[in-house]
Amino acid sequence: MTTPVYLDCDTGVDDAVALGYLLASPAIDLVGVGTVSGNTSAAQAARNTLDLLALAGRDDIPVAVGAHDHLSHPYDGGAPHVHGDNGIGGVQLPPATRVPEEQSAVDLLIALSHLYEGRLHIVTIGPMTNIALALEADPTLPGRIAGVTAMGGAALVPGNISPVAEANVFNDPEAADAALSADWDVTLVPLDVTMEHTLSEDDRAALLASTNPFVQALGEILDHYFDFYLPIYGHRTSSLHDPLAAVIAAGGARIDVAPRVPVRVDTTDGPGRGQTIADLRGQRIGPRDHEGARVRVVLRVDDPIAPHLVTTLIGV
Ligand code: BDR
Ligand code: CA
Repeated sequence: MTTPVYLDCDTGVDDAVALGYLLASPAIDLVGVGTVSGNTSAAQAARNTLDLLALAGRDDIPVAVGAHDHLSHPYDGGAPHVHGDNGIGGVQLPPATRVPEEQSAVDLLIALSHLYEGRLHIVTIGPMTNIALALEADPTLPGRIAGVTAMGGAALVPGNISPVAEANVFNDPEAADAALSADWDVTLVPLDVTMEHTLSEDDRAALLASTNPFVQALGEILDHYFDFYLPIYGHRTSSLHDPLAAVIAAGGARIDVAPRVPVRVDTTDGPGRGQTIADLRGQRIGPRDHEGARVRVVLRVDDPIAPHLVTTLIGV
């Protein structure tokens, strides 16, 4: 049995790797992709996604453009210093012949929730603007969704875009708060775990050595990202933010610590804006779920996921 997945992303170097993993995983049936501004604009993220899907021979998967601006502020121009000018490390992929769907990402998500009622899983690896807009457009949406896996937040570690905030949440705190407060089960994959999982130069070389053009392209796209992480880790590498969320959604990682606790997002305009406030009090004697909490915060994944990620990708 495969899980039908709607992917919401801001493609993005690590989004591209996550996309590749979801295509390759035998546990997942990727049934639609929506894009949002974040690492790059929603329109550019859709172009990147279409080009990547064409290279992977998966022109059958619908791609829809979502929100350009965020709920309370306009798109700020993205993160070219992290993801390159075009979002995928400056690599020019052969342009896809397809264009995005006419419907918006919000409408695509809602349509898929009816088509795969009770089975659709949402994987969100960018700002959660489209998810919040879909909840607003159709408050009955959570009742048709099997679960949500979201890359975002920082529970017990520093942020990566401010001292306390992670980029996806910071880019739309109001949307993240709405998505994390909705009546559905969320697995939150924060920086606490994503910074602990990395790719090595050997892993990148293995991708480059593949005869599959899509996998090779991932190796090329990662080059710029490895430069960005040099001063952070002290060597060329990359964090596996979005890929870890994809692996967790596919059940490909053993999760060691993940209590179900209340999580809110700071939506004030002070220095705490975008902070994910997870109620982890009382955890000293071991992880404990709060009664009624719907957000499972992944705090530890001990086994390195890079080997599984790379072998799955190479098997594309
Ligand atoms: C998240 O922000 C983006 O830059 C990455 O693609 C990832 O989704 C990490 O904070
Ligand atoms: Ca992303």
